[in-house]
Amino acid sequence: MQVVTGAFGYIGREIARQLLAQGHTVRTVTTHPEKPDPFDGEVEARPYDFDNPERLVGHLRGAEVLFNTYWIRFAHGGATFAQANQNTRTLLAAARQAGVHKVVHISVTHPDLASELPYYRGKARQEMDVAGCGLPFAIVRPTLVFGRGDILVNNIAWLLRRFPVFPIFGGGAYRLQPVHVADLGRIAIRAAGASGDAVWDAAGPEILAFKGMVQMIRDRVSPRTWLVRSPPWLGLALGRLIGLLLGDVILTRAELDGLRQEKLVSNQPPLGTTLFSDWLAANATVLGRRYASEVARHFAWQPDEPPGAVLAEPEEGD
Ligand SMILES: NC(=O)c1ccc[n+]([C@@H]2O[C@H](COP(=O)([O-])OP(=O)(O)OC[C@H]3O[C@@H](n4cnc5c(N)ncnc54)[C@H](OP(=O)(O)O)[C@@H]3O)[C@@H](O)[C@H]2O)c1
Repeated sequence: MQVVTGAFGYIGREIARQLLAQGHTVRTVTTHPEKPDPFDGEVEARPYDFDNPERLVGHLRGAEVLFNTYWIRFAHGGATFAQANQNTRTLLAAARQAGVHKVVHISVTHPDLASELPYYRGKARQEMDVAGCGLPFAIVRPTLVFGRGDILVNNIAWLLRRFPVFPIFGGGAYRLQPVHVADLGRIAIRAAGASGDAVWDAAGPEILAFKGMVQMIRDRVSPRTWLVRSPPWLGLALGRLIGLLLGDVILTRAELDGLRQEKLVSNQPPLGTTLFSDWLAANATVLGRRYASEVARHFAWQPDEPPGAVLAEPEEGD
């Protein structure tokens, strides 16, 4: 049996899908066990139970590998990075007590304890806790992950479809190296079988400037939208305004700073093979048709909401 945290979420869902396809039994530990289940009951859902470690141990008992995706994108509604780090330590201690054989932890490229960006600082702290938890481990560090269920690329397309202009923050020359979610799933499962502890970047085969990436999306989904160079403060202010209207946080200042610092580019040979350009061509007709809300997924979800509020459109060909 394998445990995947957040298997009704984005990356966890893909890892769980691949594990099921390989014949594994999968259990998930999730913030919302009652969320719409994309696996039709095939994946048993248990709550995180961070405040009841004994129950958490029970949820993990019998697992060969714990695939951990748990993290928060930004502090909001009482959720903080410090709490997310504490929760990760609780999860890891429970895994050890439950006799889990190995932890495969999903991190991010360029985590850094000295970073001024709390996301990257917190991810570095998380990695230290994984490495020190006493279990064999693999750390997989993705760049920007694209594919079914993604938020950032989907919402760039959504904004391009709905507005006549799109701001390119600070010129957009900063680069990213997106990786497809299915490639990341394969890399994570391969890491589970690696001998010895491993720390691998998960990056795709293309390095794109942010502006070039937005141009590619624009050309596919809304060729008449103008891309306009904007100072970061103006783009963020517009994003905040639209976010307020949608009840979401579109992009934080820290996320923009991370992009501009090229945190989402790997300096290792890429393990991912899917070209962003190919995926975009295959998915352009559905990409960005519906807004994907981080707040709806993680903070404001109600059991009576339709599944569309939290589950993404399937990709073409799925
Ligand atoms: N998406 C990317 O492009 C990307 C890039 C680099 C690294 N990563 C890393 O990959 C991992 C998985 O990311 P993902 O995009 O797949 O995330 P996700 O599905 O949104 O969340 C992963 C897990 O964390 C939980 N979670 C997220 N936000 C939360 C909040 N505010 N409060 C409580 N629980 C919360 C989710 O809860 P539920 O169980 O309710 O879904 C799920 O269990 C994270 O560690 C992330 O840092 C992602």
